[in-house]
Amino acid sequence: MKFFIDTANLEQIKEAQALGILDGVTTNPSLMAKEGITGEENILQHYRAICESVDGDVSAEVIATDYEGMVQQGEALAALNPQIVVKLPMIAAGIKACKYFSDKGIKTNVTLVFSVGQALLAAKAGATYVSPFLGRLDDISTDGLNLIEEIRLVYDNYDFGTQILAASVRHTMHVVNCAKIGADVMTGPLSSITGLLKHPLTDSGLATFLADYAKGN
Ligand code: G3P
Repeated sequence: MKFFIDTANLEQIKEAQALGILDGVTTNPSLMAKEGITGEENILQHYRAICESVDGDVSAEVIATDYEGMVQQGEALAALNPQIVVKLPMIAAGIKACKYFSDKGIKTNVTLVFSVGQALLAAKAGATYVSPFLGRLDDISTDGLNLIEEIRLVYDNYDFGTQILAASVRHTMHVVNCAKIGADVMTGPLSSITGLLKHPLTDSGLATFLADYAKGN
């Protein structure tokens, strides 16, 4: 299972990268805005900085909602660095642009996916990644994990190569449950990754080992 961090915060990206287990980064316009990154040139520059901070794929989202605009923006993003994955919204123009980029060998991530049918279309268009939003479904009392399970079933039925990127992960149990049902990738905040480290028996066991060592020295 690949671990992506879902942020545009360079410090958090570097912290996750330093752990040695990070496989990539996902961003979106809201996460960019949260870091105060605005304006086209600043946003492109920030993507360059993210690519330099991580080994692996970096999803960069287009803002256009028409096909021509998506192609233009996606090409500009892809030209920044081979690590860039063009992130496209799950609308008709996004699916058409996904096919365009996949035919050109440029990696894509179809985002804002909330149904199996949408995920099927993304796979048909040759998406590298499909992003079902687990947490946002849970927010409206709908079973986000069930959607991922159903996408897994459909993709396996037809050997689709599109990787299921569980997005909108909020906490460690989302990560663990996504791993159990075979999501290929998860993207979440740094806390959802570092939270996996924690267990009170690890902490108390280590304290005992160190105390026992100290007695003999
Ligand atoms: O990758 C998509 C993700 O950023 C959405 O997460 O927490 O805003 O639902 P959230």
